[in-house]
Amino acid sequence: MLLPATALIGFLCLSHAGGARGFARLLEDLELRSAFSVARTSSMEGGPKMTVTFDAVYVNIGGDFDPKAGLFRCRIPGAYYFSFTVGKFPHKDLSVMLMKNRNEVQAIVYEENAGEERKVQSQSVMLQLEFGDTVWLRLHGDPRYALYSNTGHYTTFNGYLVYPDTYGYQTRHHQRHPDYSSQQPQRDHAAVVQSNQATEEEKDLQHREEEDEEEDDDQRSAFSVGRTQSIVGVNQVGMPQHQPVSFDTAFVNVGDDFNVTEGVFTCRVPGAYFFSFNVGKLPQKTLSVKLMKNRLEVQAMIYDDSQGEKALQSQSLMLSLQPGDTVWLYSHQRDGFGAYSNHAKYITFTGFLVYPDFPGSGGTNQSSTEKKP
Ligand SMILES: *[C@@H]1O[C@H](CO)[C@@H](O)[C@H](O)[C@H]1NC(C)=O
Ligand SMILES: *[C@@H]1O[C@H](CO)[C@@H](O)[C@H](O)[C@H]1NC(C)=O
Repeated sequence: MLLPATALIGFLCLSHAGGARGFARLLEDLELRSAFSVARTSSMEGGPKMTVTFDAVYVNIGGDFDPKAGLFRCRIPGAYYFSFTVGKFPHKDLSVMLMKNRNEVQAIVYEENAGEERKVQSQSVMLQLEFGDTVWLRLHGDPRYALYSNTGHYTTFNGYLVYPDTYGYQTRHHQRHPDYSSQQPQRDHAAVVQSNQATEEEKDLQHREEEDEEEDDDQRSAFSVGRTQSIVGVNQVGMPQHQPVSFDTAFVNVGDDFNVTEGVFTCRVPGAYFFSFNVGKLPQKTLSVKLMKNRLEVQAMIYDDSQGEKALQSQSLMLSLQPGDTVWLYSHQRDGFGAYSNHAKYITFTGFLVYPDFPGSGGTNQSSTEKKP
């Protein structure tokens, strides 16, 4: 989307006072923003038109979400975080899938329960998107399914850009790592903006800044993974205890800090990280999944010992991490415990760096600066 010329002029004036470098930063920030948050004020029954549309728009930075069509269309390639919550309609089943492009299922909320109660279910995931990729929610087409909402906005959908594939930070500081986001072709969008806009003076400043921060590695870290198989706890003698939940689908692994087969995230960049996880409930099994740090430090958990059918539970929090800290999920391995998933990916686990600790600038943990080499 093009910015209105007046906005650009406004920023030109503002940034002039703040110096040339500020100006370059601002332009990049403006160019590389994308976020939406929308809600639906009415219920919807399963039918031929399966795309969930929205009529209340809270945020639509960049205009990348079309609420009437229910479509997010990627303008800036990169890693995006999406979350959604949908209401369960009384006496109906619930099945809403997060879709990428035509029919690529990314993750699901589901509740097989025709009971009369109303409740909500949530799911979240990060996706690596290319220019033109679309992301949307699909309600199951059978009229046996429905989602509930009203003016109380039970049903909401959010997404925002966490890391653009190429951005100012990277082009300025990380030219030594051109293959960083390995599967993605590099797009030099920011570089183009930069070369068009930057004066010699700005380039000079950037150059000096580069030298200042020569020690810096890529300060990006994000993962999002899914599991397509259920976990069933069994009493086993001699089995390794406290095995992390492993995964088979990696949506995003910026920095390769998550070992998918092992199911373990290892902190490389110290800072404050956001984590969220979603787990399906197996009928007749107790759901007990914990977010662990390092050996056996429980940080947060999901628990459900109801007799109910398949449903989802969600949890999220932020942690301040030091290099080498590990974060992983643990599902109780004893008989009677379990977690449900299938190809539609009920079980998902996401984490990304929100703010790195900067030496001397008071990071999320001051003492982290002492640990720097
Ligand atoms: C993931 O962990 C396993 C088991 O520790 C190890 O064999 C494998 O090399 C690791 N994979 C990566 C990509 O580091
Ligand atoms: C900060 O880091 C130090 C050293 O790694 C650690 O001992 C301390 O517990 C951390 N504090 C917090 C609040 O995380």
